[in-house]
Amino acid sequence: MVRLGVNVDHVATVRQARKAPEPDPLAAALLAQRAGADSIIIHLREDRRHIQDRDVEILRKKVKRLNLEMAVAKEILKIACEVRPDQATLVPEKRRELTTEGGLDVAGNPKKISKAVKRLKKKGILVSLFIDPDLRQVIASAKSGAQMVELHTGCYAEAKSRKNKDKELKRIVRAAREAQELGLEVSAGHGLTYQNVSQIVKIPEIEELNIGHNIIARAVMVGINQAVKEMLNLIKRKGAR
Ligand code: PXP
Repeated sequence: MVRLGVNVDHVATVRQARKAPEPDPLAAALLAQRAGADSIIIHLREDRRHIQDRDVEILRKKVKRLNLEMAVAKEILKIACEVRPDQATLVPEKRRELTTEGGLDVAGNPKKISKAVKRLKKKGILVSLFIDPDLRQVIASAKSGAQMVELHTGCYAEAKSRKNKDKELKRIVRAAREAQELGLEVSAGHGLTYQNVSQIVKIPEIEELNIGHNIIARAVMVGINQAVKEMLNLIKRKGAR
């Protein structure tokens, strides 16, 4: 079955809106884990808009499998090497964006990225690169030494017409196939929802989905346990292909 990683950044967003102690991303992570999430994802952004350094330390100790999303930045790399999450996902980061916008330009920055990958791998961390579903980026990722790629599903999620959705889906299918052929593990994420996840789940090369905003938005209404279970049910229905 496809694994589900639940991103709890936006629990911290609500907390930081008031600089209050609650809601606690750790509590959310433990509930998501108990509901069946295979891993917990947090993004320690350079501007610390949601997840804080302390969250990273605490979640590292308490969750079964932690995937730390991070920019290829000196300060954050140092923290990751100290904290040693199970997995690190390298993402591009811009201060003014609302969320991660495009994929990492691995093809354009091969040296910088390979160096970061090597440093993290040396600490026993599995390294994934968040890239657009673009063959150039897939090939560059395989050369970088990373063990995994996360294909950016944002364009698929945002495509309005049926024709554009199909076009974006085909790009993801092709990139996933190529990545697996090159020996990379494949995951996908960004903009995935209860409504659009089913097409992505059908792609056989994709082994993991990373979902945040839509699950947390649903959890506000029904609680994390139910929100995670509803997503897991959709993912499990993969067999109904
Ligand atoms: N994967 C990556 C690399 C991301 O940066 C994000 C957003 O934090 C996600 C997945 C989850 O995206 P969403 O919140 O839209 O589900």
